[in-house]
Amino acid sequence: MTSRAPVAVALDAPDLNTAAQWAAQVTPHVSTLKIGLELYLRFGPDAVASVRGPRGVDVFLDLKLHDIPATVGGAAKAVAKVRPNLLTVHAAAGTAAIQAAVEALPDTTIVAVTVLTSLGDGDLEQIGMAGPVSDAVRRLAALAVAAGARGLVCSPREVAAVRAEVGPGITLITPGVRPAGHASHDQARVATPQEALSAGADLLVVGRPITGAADPGAAAAALAADLRRSARGAPFPESR
Ligand code: C5P
Repeated sequence: MTSRAPVAVALDAPDLNTAAQWAAQVTPHVSTLKIGLELYLRFGPDAVASVRGPRGVDVFLDLKLHDIPATVGGAAKAVAKVRPNLLTVHAAAGTAAIQAAVEALPDTTIVAVTVLTSLGDGDLEQIGMAGPVSDAVRRLAALAVAAGARGLVCSPREVAAVRAEVGPGITLITPGVRPAGHASHDQARVATPQEALSAGADLLVVGRPITGAADPGAAAAALAADLRRSARGAPFPESR
């Protein structure tokens, strides 16, 4: 049996039919499907039900919760019935908010977002966070893991430093991944899948290079084959 590639396909679709179609096409090849704010706010639990399908694929609910601990805990409980395998919370919501999510969903990997990849050093200064992005990422990663997060979202360029900070056993998830030759779209800092994995990433978030392809299933299969070749036949790591 061939294991599926450690890729989370971002199902940033305008409607449920499209999301479900993409999900069915890519599920044989990838470990994870990512449902973001837009799809979830529009369709709620139906979004998860229509992409999950019969095959055991992980569902990554990328809601980036950021609120007081009681509200984060309540929101996490509110999504318990869709059984997300992964759920994001902003690390900047603080220790108690992350703990609240972890307590509310013991069977879900709570993933902390460190610093959004759309923010640079100047943006952090503007919102009153001292120091460069790289320092903030390391600080927030350590805080989140101490609070019980078992996964972290960071840019491919930060993966190595974050791994050094938090050690093994924490799932590092990187967006901004582009197979060689693909457009970077609005991603400012990109890396190839091989670069992200060799820097220490465990799960690669890939959206438009797959969902924007004429045949998303073929694009996912090609990416999986490419990763398998570069791993020289070694089995993919468990995504969690
Ligand atoms: O299409 P693309 O591969 O750029 O999609 C990347 C996905 O990862 C999108 O769903 C985007 O919202 C998400 N994401 C990101 N950068 C972050 C966190 C999440 O691009 N820092």
